[in-house]
Amino acid sequence: MSESLTTVAYLGAAILFILSLGGLSNPETSRRGNVYGMIGMALAVLATIFGPKVAAAGLGWVIAALVLGGSVGLYAAKVVKMTQMPELVALMHSLVGLAACLVGFASYVDTSIAYTGAEKVIHQVEIYIGILIGAVTFSGSLIAFGKLNGKIGGKPLLLPARHWLNLIALLVVIWFGGEFMRAETVADGMLPLAIMTVLALLFGIHMVMAIGGADMPVVVSMLNSYSGWAAAATGFMLGNDLLIVTGALVGSSGAILSYIMCTAMNRNFISVIAGGFGSGAPTPKGNGAPAEPQGEVTPVSATETAELLRDAKSVIIVPGYGMAVAQAQHTVNEIVRTLRDKGVDVRFAIHPVAGRMPGHMNVLLAEAKVPYDIVMEMDEINADFPEADVAMVIGANDIVNPAAQDDPTSPIAGMPVLEVWKAKTSIVMKRSMASGYAGVDNPLFYKDNNRMLFGDAKKMLDEVLSALRG
Ligand code: TAP
Repeated sequence: MSESLTTVAYLGAAILFILSLGGLSNPETSRRGNVYGMIGMALAVLATIFGPKVAAAGLGWVIAALVLGGSVGLYAAKVVKMTQMPELVALMHSLVGLAACLVGFASYVDTSIAYTGAEKVIHQVEIYIGILIGAVTFSGSLIAFGKLNGKIGGKPLLLPARHWLNLIALLVVIWFGGEFMRAETVADGMLPLAIMTVLALLFGIHMVMAIGGADMPVVVSMLNSYSGWAAAATGFMLGNDLLIVTGALVGSSGAILSYIMCTAMNRNFISVIAGGFGSGAPTPKGNGAPAEPQGEVTPVSATETAELLRDAKSVIIVPGYGMAVAQAQHTVNEIVRTLRDKGVDVRFAIHPVAGRMPGHMNVLLAEAKVPYDIVMEMDEINADFPEADVAMVIGANDIVNPAAQDDPTSPIAGMPVLEVWKAKTSIVMKRSMASGYAGVDNPLFYKDNNRMLFGDAKKMLDEVLSALRG
């Protein structure tokens, strides 16, 4: 394949990636967006393999790597549960970071192209920065993986003088950058490069360890952005325009997503990065005592729930992580259809960080074929709860916690929440009194107008459905 044909193919792939991102911004067009992305990636891989940069002799290696990587990817996609997706994504980000580091070292020791003058300076800067971003992404993503699957605790690690430690590490990295640029030979440059890599790896670990469990959604999207920049840096090192464009697309969309997440959780982006939020250990401020849940909860049965739903004029359903675990979305859709056939107005309220990944609930509801026009974002529906007869919470907890508004000492204080307690009756469906992801008690459960339907969401909803139909 000639150089110019490869460039045309790369251009086509870049356009498809942009269309893909555009498609993914809306549930109705997301399937199409995915298809654009798949075609774009296939085009990019084929143009690279058959392009001028891969010698015929190396083709065997490339195909072997493709088969190996493709099989691992296929296997992971088949066995990983939807609720484990953020862990898988974190692991994949770490691989992008690792690849950027390896490509950086490989391009440095590769002396087949003799760079001189300004070109040499630019090439060395690309390598130094590429490895730096790659190493931070690699170790940070591994820690995020550990935190998301519970192998590492959610509590932030707050080293004394941690900001100073970070600042000193940054100054040392800059100083060794100078040493690296001055190195005459590859052997001379290897030591500063290796020291910087170790520091960057430690920085990645420290950065994510300092972030508390409640802020993990932001970390996942932030590392998504870093992995994009690491890919862009790899593109610079390899002189591959498509990788630069794709990396920049991922990097900037990840940054926008992080910003949206921060707004949704009422967090300041810089404070999240600086760490220490979401510790789950409230620090009392002033006179405001933590809002301890008080009183008794009122349990209900599936039959009573069905009666409440049948008698309602307006119902708002709030799905959360528990609906995803129980895979109850199809039963939810059946209940919605039955109620709508009876003339009940049913809508869904989606919190931006419900579940464990951005858009988690939208994906599940779309899979169950819930009509898009009754699925509302938090801002669109939060003011309607006082008019709702029933607010039915299915396996959600943190996103409906009134302590976020009432208790300034709560670890989730200030996070916007769905105000289900303002409905005439709220029903919370969960298995026990256990707390949610942020590990915070929920005073909603004890409110007079709240009922608890204890049990697995799928099992309980099946019972509610048969009671409704009966
Ligand atoms: P959570 O606050 O985690 O609450 C989920 C609840 O579901 C739990 O309290 C659990 O109670 C219940 N549950 C679990 N399995 C169930 C089952 N089989 N049947 C019925 N209930 C079940 O979830 P949420 O309200 O969706 O809030 C999301 C949380 O995750 C937020 O804190 C958010 O910051 C965090 N987070 C979000 C993301 C993104 S991007 N969405 C990423 C990482 C973290 P029982 O054990 O008593 O059943």
